[in-house]
Amino acid sequence: MSQDEPEITPSADLSHLNTLNVAATAEYFIAAHTVSELSYALGWAKERAIDCLVLGGGSNLVFAGTHVPGLVIRMAIAGRQWENAGDDGATLVLGAGENWHDAVLYAASSGYRGIENLALIPGTCGAAPVQNIGAYGVELQDTLFSVTALDTQTGQVVTLSNKECQFAYRDSLFKQIPGQYIILQIRLRLSRTKPLSLGYGDLVEYFSDHSAPSSLTALDIAEGIMAVRRRKLPDPEQMPNAGSFFKNPVVPLETWDQLKTAFPNIAAYPGESSVKLAAAWLIDQCGWKGYRNATVGVHSRQALVLTNHSHGSGEDILALAERIQNDVKERFGVALEIEPRIVPAAAR
Ligand code: EPU
Repeated sequence: MSQDEPEITPSADLSHLNTLNVAATAEYFIAAHTVSELSYALGWAKERAIDCLVLGGGSNLVFAGTHVPGLVIRMAIAGRQWENAGDDGATLVLGAGENWHDAVLYAASSGYRGIENLALIPGTCGAAPVQNIGAYGVELQDTLFSVTALDTQTGQVVTLSNKECQFAYRDSLFKQIPGQYIILQIRLRLSRTKPLSLGYGDLVEYFSDHSAPSSLTALDIAEGIMAVRRRKLPDPEQMPNAGSFFKNPVVPLETWDQLKTAFPNIAAYPGESSVKLAAAWLIDQCGWKGYRNATVGVHSRQALVLTNHSHGSGEDILALAERIQNDVKERFGVALEIEPRIVPAAAR
């Protein structure tokens, strides 16, 4: 190894690199701090004809097995700068390895609006577009201007516009064709004046005794979101989890009418041509909230979050998920789709 070649470690422990804290070992591991380190890692894996898996904060994935073959690359490209600052707006450029929540606080404390509702979402900036992170009435796609990525097919660095990213609810091009693009940098278009998004139930309640909503700043909203999230969602540092384990299922209006008749209290977010059902409500109604077996369980304040309280394996988590999916299917006829990425177990 020459001096400027980054270090590739064999048999690396990944348990602290996934927020579910599942025990897994990477055959090889590297942290890529620059594009050239990333290219080196990709070339190294190509020479040996082994697979690569890029990890961000590990907050949205499940290792199904305890051995991850190939090279695991932790994305660690840093960088935070402003571009094209004008009277109202500015573009915030973030390296893929930057922590998302720190970026939210940085933007909000600089007086810029647009991502404050996405405070305290675990993970990195590079992972944010993959599942089009969203919370409290805001999604990343609302402010994302472009993504700079390495196209692994051609080896070229490309820029994808918001439209090219094909964003949808918890979905994007990057999720559809995993492995083709490695995100290097994201650009967010933020504003000093755009209206704050305060319409989501929990936020309305949180700010209900605030006498002058017009005086609220982006930082006030970020702090409100942090308080609301801390009340309901477990901190992965204390109770390992991967956030919402299922997507909220989207059903046609016809199905919605039938469900509403059969279950008048059903919780949902109605749209114009379809309705998004609250998966947490469906799971809760099946009696799963607060359930625990010896290793894994369902959070006691948010039924959509699966937790790993005692060294559970990926297999334990996925077995619980399957039982929940079966119950919801049987009771409501609705299929729940797992939200985090599942890294398959190695073939034996
Ligand atoms: N509910 C229950 N039981 C529960 C929790 C919720 O019946 O245990 C019902 C309540 O009626 C509530 C409704 O479900 O009104 C919706 O719950 P909540 O407002 O907590 O939101 P959610 O739809 O369950 C989504 C996101 C969360 C995000 C919140 C807030 C998905 C898959 N999840 O959850 O995202 O924080 O909205 O915007 O869309 C994540 O993706 O990791 C995540 C936490």
